[in-house]
Amino acid sequence: MRKLFHNISRLWGIEYTPEAYKSGAAMGVVDSLESAWLLVEDGLIAGFGTEAEGRPKANEYIDVKDRELLPGFVDSHTHAVFAVPREKEWRMRLQGASYEEIAENGGGILNSAARLRETAEEQLYKDAYARVERMIQHGSTTIEIKSGYGLDLDSELKMLRVIKRLKGEFPAQIRATFLGAHAIPAEYKQDREGYIELIIKTMLPQVAYNLLADHVDVFCDKGFFTPAETEKILKAAEKLGLPAKIHANELGLTGGVQTAVKLGAWSADHLEHCGEEEFLALKQSDTVPVALPGTSYFLGIPFAHARKMIAHELPLALASDFNPGSSPVCNMQMIWSLACSQMRMLPEEAFWACTLNAARALRLETQVGSVSIGKEANFFSTKTENAMQCIPYFFGVNHAEKVWVRGELFE
Ligand code: NIG
Ligand code: FE
Repeated sequence: MRKLFHNISRLWGIEYTPEAYKSGAAMGVVDSLESAWLLVEDGLIAGFGTEAEGRPKANEYIDVKDRELLPGFVDSHTHAVFAVPREKEWRMRLQGASYEEIAENGGGILNSAARLRETAEEQLYKDAYARVERMIQHGSTTIEIKSGYGLDLDSELKMLRVIKRLKGEFPAQIRATFLGAHAIPAEYKQDREGYIELIIKTMLPQVAYNLLADHVDVFCDKGFFTPAETEKILKAAEKLGLPAKIHANELGLTGGVQTAVKLGAWSADHLEHCGEEEFLALKQSDTVPVALPGTSYFLGIPFAHARKMIAHELPLALASDFNPGSSPVCNMQMIWSLACSQMRMLPEEAFWACTLNAARALRLETQVGSVSIGKEANFFSTKTENAMQCIPYFFGVNHAEKVWVRGELFE
């Protein structure tokens, strides 16, 4: 089945020779075609070109009505399965409490865990379904989702089953991450080793044997898990064939990045507190640095040093971190804009960080993240002219008019 999308005023994000990621000066260049067509065969991109060159034949012709087209975003870090919002904690922070203080007093992740444990699986699924739908409507066509609000065997498995069900329900690729090591649950407050043992001996094997996760993550930070604990958990995961991702350096210079590099983690995410040492460590590795500007914005903490990472030619990626505590944003267009206005990334740099480099953080770069032959036909149309600049410029609205996932209109 060949579908020809034509009358595209500009087709953005094309790659003639697909690369694994963009870094350094290459991040600042996004190729595009004016007056273009795009050929899709069985859900994959089969070709693209200009009207002037002539159009190929197809079974179906789709007039995109003179709109610009961009490849879908890859949101490589979300916590989209959760029970309820935490707007009360947000008010407490507005009145002066810190994120850490709230967490130490049973709020934060532990509050989300208490609510999630008492929420029925069906309800969690319905709410998460609506969130994923909204993410896709905003142009995200590949989405990672973590567990980590269960913090006991049954509740972690419940979250992962919800993610598995979402995988089957949406055309967009969804990747699952087991984040049992998100916090020490209240009942293990006096026995952190006991909880780590539970993760390693009970949770991880069940998750692996039931094929419920594609990766394992640990919140390696001040007040959460130490580098030594992180290493223990992620080495056990590796033995089960599960690759690592790490929440690193959000709350302090705590060795999270070095741990990620040492363990060959696919990505080190957050990075609000990083210095030269962290960037040099990342430079020696295949670990993708993932910045989460929604978190910096919402918590009022520093933004990751994008300019330094780009100067070091690191394949910087961006993600939403969509979650009820530190980043209640599901819209990657907003992340794109925040990265420009707050991290001084150029629109082109932030675009690659939200697409190809983010795909690399999930090791999906050969399948998604740009308009190139053989990749999934994931893209969205916009009425916004000069979209590469004007989507992040006109922030706060949804610029995506129609979204196609694997060549099918998402409705
Ligand atoms: O990525 N940092 C750890 N985990 C989430 C926040 C979780 C929460 O506050 O609910 C994050 O920011
Ligand atoms: Fe997170």
